[in-house]
Amino acid sequence: MPWTIEQVKALVREFPDFPSKGVLFRDIFPIFREPEAVECLVDHLVERVRALGQRADAVVGLDARGFLLGPMIAGRLGVPFAPVRKGGKLPGPVARVTYEKEYGADAFEMQADAIAPGQAVVVVDDLLATGGSCRAAEELVAKLGGSVLLNAFVIALTGLEGAKRLRAPVYSLIEC
Ligand code: PRP
Ligand code: HPA
Repeated sequence: MPWTIEQVKALVREFPDFPSKGVLFRDIFPIFREPEAVECLVDHLVERVRALGQRADAVVGLDARGFLLGPMIAGRLGVPFAPVRKGGKLPGPVARVTYEKEYGADAFEMQADAIAPGQAVVVVDDLLATGGSCRAAEELVAKLGGSVLLNAFVIALTGLEGAKRLRAPVYSLIEC
């Protein structure tokens, strides 16, 4: 029997007090132990992109867990995958944006030729919390002359109102 998206959602686990006391960590890795659950999840997210009714020219994935689903979604759509990496990890000319995290500033980078000016992209990550990471990714895409059609997540922590910090619309499979 193929997996249903509700069964896939049920695989996400919660770990109290990780990585620090008071944080309830949502772990998507159990999904990746079930190849057919991954297929179901990728189908679901690809369908959401297709439902936009606009062509996505590329899929942009955020370091690190956006690299799990992003390339698969890009492959299904038949478009390139472009990584957003933590600062200092990518060779060659890069665009760089700094953003605030819970403890101090961090930096994200994209290779300057990762997307072409005028391209419309979908941004993919595992989880939307404050929106700081995804907002930085939106800024990087804009620096390269592109635009974001959709920010797609497995999980959104709605209480943190991350979507309000983002320019482009948000889709999340799980809201909690
Ligand atoms: C997590 C998560 C998102 C980001 C969400 O990654 O995977 O990328 O935080 O938080 P925000 O919406 O408040 O920016 P993290 O920065 O912990 O890095 P990691 O992928 O290296 O674990
Ligand atoms: N899971 C993964 N990344 C995160 C989380 C989480 O629960 N909270 C903030 N970033």
